[in-house]
Amino acid sequence: MFVSDTAYDDFMGRFSYRLALVFADFAGVSAGDRILDVGAGTGALTAELVRRAAVAAAAEPSEAFVAALHRRFPGIDAREAGAEDLPWPDAAFDGALAQLVVAFMRDAAAGVREMQRVVRPGGTVAVCMWDRDGMEMLAAVDRTRDALGDAREVTPYRTRAEIESLLPGADVELLTVEAAYSDFEDLWASLVGGVGPAGVWAASLDEERRGAARAELFRQLDEPSGPFELVGRAWAARATRA
Ligand SMILES: C[S@@+](CC[C@H](N)C(=O)[O-])C[C@H]1O[C@@H](n2cnc3c(N)ncnc32)[C@H](O)[C@@H]1O
Repeated sequence: MFVSDTAYDDFMGRFSYRLALVFADFAGVSAGDRILDVGAGTGALTAELVRRAAVAAAAEPSEAFVAALHRRFPGIDAREAGAEDLPWPDAAFDGALAQLVVAFMRDAAAGVREMQRVVRPGGTVAVCMWDRDGMEMLAAVDRTRDALGDAREVTPYRTRAEIESLLPGADVELLTVEAAYSDFEDLWASLVGGVGPAGVWAASLDEERRGAARAELFRQLDEPSGPFELVGRAWAARATRA
């Protein structure tokens, strides 16, 4: 689904690096904490953990992304693994965090159980996902697909109730970030890079449908004429390991 680390950063990184900062605050990450970044991707959250001088480790099933993590963060313990089967012993970490990952897990409940297993009692398990309507860029793409009559899958875990269902009794908050685009073409180019369900859809369109999608997305974003910003809101849940 994800084509390259630079395409990922261009499409989602401009939101996810900022989200990492507020998500790490929400999870209470401090210097010296041993923190596992689950579904680390190209390292948006890992970078924030390293910046805070936490002892970061990363699990990521994509071989290409694990290679990118090793390049960007030499010396961190980055392993090719899915959340459902984490290759670390019980209670190895002070916290396990999954930023924008639970919707992509094969079995999110099993993934969260594994996150709890590798965290020590009293440690923190935290997850977050974009709100279905509150992530303005993805919501505009969804409306574009609907306007064009293109069927689309409904990504799970993008409401408060769904996020809460993964960690019953957790503290839940809506986190907000902003991302900047130099112009509409900047956004369009990042979308047709083919990243994530929205990008896969855009990249799959033939020339005529692509033109119609571009025009409709431009309309959905109120026809920006120069630089603009979009807001991304994400539901975050934080639980203390019993
Ligand atoms: C939207 S990206 C988020 C990446 C990164 N956490 C960030 O915030 O930029 C979703 C990530 O989940 C990874 N992923 C997919 N299935 C997974 C699974 N079962 N367990 C853990 N990660 C998974 C993907 O490879 C991808 O890197």
